[in-house]
Amino acid sequence: MNNKDRVLSGMQSSGKVHLGNLVGALQNWVKLQDSYDCYYFVADWHALTTGYANPETLRESVNDLLINFLAAGLDPEKCTLFIQSKILEHAELHLLLSMITPVGWLERVPTYKEKQQELSGRDLSTYGFLGYPLLQPADIIMYRAKRVPVGVDQVPHLEISREIARKFNNTYKEIFPEPEALLTEFPKVPGIDGRKMSKSYGNAIYLSDSPKEVEQKIRTMTTDPARIKRTDIGDPELSPVFQLHKVFSSKEEQAEVAEGCRTAGIGCIDCKKVLIRNVYKVLEPIWAKRDELIHHPEKLREIAELGTVKARKVCRETMALVREAMGLY
Ligand code: TRP
Repeated sequence: MNNKDRVLSGMQSSGKVHLGNLVGALQNWVKLQDSYDCYYFVADWHALTTGYANPETLRESVNDLLINFLAAGLDPEKCTLFIQSKILEHAELHLLLSMITPVGWLERVPTYKEKQQELSGRDLSTYGFLGYPLLQPADIIMYRAKRVPVGVDQVPHLEISREIARKFNNTYKEIFPEPEALLTEFPKVPGIDGRKMSKSYGNAIYLSDSPKEVEQKIRTMTTDPARIKRTDIGDPELSPVFQLHKVFSSKEEQAEVAEGCRTAGIGCIDCKKVLIRNVYKVLEPIWAKRDELIHHPEKLREIAELGTVKARKVCRETMALVREAMGLY
């Protein structure tokens, strides 16, 4: 019925979506939905591996992530949207793959130790957290997807997914293609302090921020520290504002503000105004759709239910092959 190649990706529902997630992943998902058979999901079990102690927050963030998927431009007529925990086959495949996964592979994934340090206030010495990098391969190879559009931070997870697909194929039967990451043009979006935009650095602009909040965040950004007075000349490359212009402004605008900075032809506020305008351009349609969806939770539910039915069909086919290959009754 549908012979387009399959694409799959997920996003963990553990907090708000920021411009880095939008540019580094979601916009890529949106582009792909026209030419591939795309499956995109809310990874709520993944969120549970670190957020198991906060069930209330978890439920809200699943909803919010679905809203952001749609607001960013994913169209349920073109792609399949679903919630991970609604498809029990993902858990079954995770269990079955655990039989052939050496513990060392899991401990070696760089995000394992990094996250444990980053979230040192939580007890992450759990079995579920160790299994995180196996849950993701289960999600991916379940759909026998060849392409996985993700942010750069997810590349190690794709490597282990390939290793596991290979091990399964060698041990049992050639069922799974080896998935590949599809990165975007801007894999790393800088935050308002110039470091990589991230929830944990407190330097993010969120899709749920109000226009006022966005304006405030950009207005208070630091620029080239050598530009103290309006008449001082500056080096745009030393300004986090210019780093954001590179993502959100046209080439001409970039050239203009850079020139204005180097010659003190414009002030930092002028430069920031251009950036605010361009970030608004990206966010305005998203704000409008978020607003509409927040008031129609029944629409969200319906979309997720339809997507689940479609995704489950693929999972059933895959699991029949896997059970057979592994000698299950
Ligand atoms: N680990 C991803 C994140 O942190 C979420 C995820 C779970 C995922 N399963 C996936 C991404 C499968 C791509 C494919 O957002």
